[in-house]
Amino acid sequence: MTRGIILAGGAGTRLDPLTRVACKQLLPVYDKPMIYYPLSVLMLGDIREILIISTPKDLPMFRDLFGDGSSLGLSIEYAEQAEPRGLAEALVIGEAFLDGSPSCLVLGDNLFHGNLDFFRAALRENTGATVFASEVRDPERFGIVEFDEAGRVLSIEEKPEHPKSPYAVPGLYIFDPSAPARARGLQPSGRGELEIADLICSYLEEGKLTARMLGRGVAWLDTGTPDSLLEAANYIATVQKQGAYQVARLEEIAYQRGFIGRAQLLEQAAGQPNREVGRYLENIPAR
Ligand code: TTP
Repeated sequence: MTRGIILAGGAGTRLDPLTRVACKQLLPVYDKPMIYYPLSVLMLGDIREILIISTPKDLPMFRDLFGDGSSLGLSIEYAEQAEPRGLAEALVIGEAFLDGSPSCLVLGDNLFHGNLDFFRAALRENTGATVFASEVRDPERFGIVEFDEAGRVLSIEEKPEHPKSPYAVPGLYIFDPSAPARARGLQPSGRGELEIADLICSYLEEGKLTARMLGRGVAWLDTGTPDSLLEAANYIATVQKQGAYQVARLEEIAYQRGFIGRAQLLEQAAGQPNREVGRYLENIPAR
């Protein structure tokens, strides 16, 4: 079974001084801490064994928030990243936790909303590594994937000055069990980081990389700057006020995916200090 890693460290300099109070992934996106959203994506992919990686300073707050994960029918473990030495270091830190399993790495500041069938299909069908691609207007800010006419990946570049395509790679990656050993073998880049692009390239060179387009039905939001954080909050608020359902209400997802039963859901509902959330959970129809 695929195990999940949420990378939730980093410096968060673009959100300073907010990130002096709490790290980026604990800041609010409308009515929930940011990390709820990437965690909900793993849960919707039926991934129940999860490692949260953060800084020594912030890790205790994640522990307080989720504990061992059992109230959500999950098993959550924690590990420190002492310094922000790059996204690929998550696979090195997570090696013992993964214990030879395939993995799904999600960045703690990436939000996805919409139909996640593409993700479930990718988890089922991955051989090697799978990344996703989403057309963006400002490709120099992202990791960029270039395709040929047949949809085969030609290159992956991190924040290129002259992007070869408009397709950005969101912070959601699926790897076979060889990822930790590959990550261990990487050399730090010029900026001193183990680059996720280099890890992905090692699969590309062996013809083991798949890239799948995110469909139009999926919104991918990044939250690294004050503007994108505000836009993400407004997006979630609009979705929740417009419709009858909430995004990333973790207890609801745990129930829907069968991780917890009705009694446990109602127990969670009764224990909510926020009565509005409690009522929402009580009113979830039986499966
Ligand atoms: P970035 O947005 O690249 O970096 P950052 O969060 O440190 O922010 P800033 O650029 O404003 O300083 O990181 C993407 C995500 O990965 C984010 O959730 C932080 C996390 N991250 C780590 O946990 N460890 C790391 O070593 C790096 C580079 C990022």
